[in-house]
Amino acid sequence: MESRFTPPRRLLLGPGPSDAHPRVLAALGQPLIGHLDPAFLALMDDVKRMLRAVFRTRNELTFAVSGTGSAGMEACLVNLLEEGDEAVVMVNGEFGRRMTDIVERCRARLVAHEIPWGRAVEPDDVAQAIAKARQPKLVAMVHAETSTGAQSPIAEIAPIVARSGALFVVDTVTSLGGCPVEVDGWGIDACYSGTQKCLSCPPGLSPLTFGERALEALRRRRSKVQSWYLDLTMIEKYWGAERVYHHTAPISMSYALAEALRVVEEEGLEARFERHRRNHLALAAGLEALGFRFVVEPDRRLWMLNSVYLPALASGRDEAQLRRRLLDDFSIEVGGGLGAFKGKIWRIGLMGESSRRVNVMRLLEALEVLLPDAGVTLRAGASLAAAEACA
Ligand SMILES: Cc1ncc(COP(=O)(O)O)c(C=O)c1O
Repeated sequence: MESRFTPPRRLLLGPGPSDAHPRVLAALGQPLIGHLDPAFLALMDDVKRMLRAVFRTRNELTFAVSGTGSAGMEACLVNLLEEGDEAVVMVNGEFGRRMTDIVERCRARLVAHEIPWGRAVEPDDVAQAIAKARQPKLVAMVHAETSTGAQSPIAEIAPIVARSGALFVVDTVTSLGGCPVEVDGWGIDACYSGTQKCLSCPPGLSPLTFGERALEALRRRRSKVQSWYLDLTMIEKYWGAERVYHHTAPISMSYALAEALRVVEEEGLEARFERHRRNHLALAAGLEALGFRFVVEPDRRLWMLNSVYLPALASGRDEAQLRRRLLDDFSIEVGGGLGAFKGKIWRIGLMGESSRRVNVMRLLEALEVLLPDAGVTLRAGASLAAAEACA
């Protein structure tokens, strides 16, 4: 009996993780060194420099939290909030909702502003939310809401938050590396991301950056940060010049992130964004030719995450069966809906390495085979032609 786990070869077109670059996978297999080895400290400095470039920030405190994207979310909120502080959270999907949960666990006063799923957060929504609050310490929201496929205009929202005097905390887990994120240019005070989406690295680290105002708030705290593990007052001493041990850094994941960031640097951010945009447009044309309908209006659609309603299937057939056949027969993973969208939509990711024209075509070809079998009438080849016309 085979005692080793051998994962099946998949094409990852879901909401994350995305396919990792072979160089990133090779980096994971490099020999271990100590987390205070001069060579490792030099690697940490490289990671910080390259993360500043992708976040487009000069923030000194820019590093990778040990943990997935949720750890970055929690790190931002637990470090900035204390009992009795007020926090406005914009909720237009699952990840905004998750932020409200963390705010409550911080015993802060939560002002949650709900927006229908599938819609972006607009500047007026934020103005209304702030008007409901007394004096919020921070406003938090998600740039690219992975549960719905909506992208919110952070550049237009930031000045409204700035006028209120609140700190601006933004989740860029899905957007970073796939579309513009301008931490300094837009005026974001605290921002976090994840490695397994458009950076195309395995899940396990959460890039995070804190600006001057966020650092000031951290230094002015009246109480200790609730979480020992995520306490930035201690972690910054490990990632900064002092190199004081806090916890053992995930060595292999750091190799992988450094390599993933080098791949991003070599491609160039603008070229990478353009690749994501073009492949999204090709996929959108193909999906619409197959009868899928987008959840989000065109101007607010994410390039890296396409959320779509399926065409009507024959009775007795459902989206989960179709996804399973895509996985079993074509080895392609796409995501189902979360929360209110469960059973109703698909979430098709074109993130990082997965965002390739060849992958768009592979998915459309598979759907051209599977959909007629599920009772959908198609004009054979139409989706491929529609995608091809977007070249
Ligand atoms: C927008 C957003 N925020 C936060 C998270 C949580 O990240 P993780 O699952 O890596 O903890 C995700 C994960 O999909 C996400 O899409």
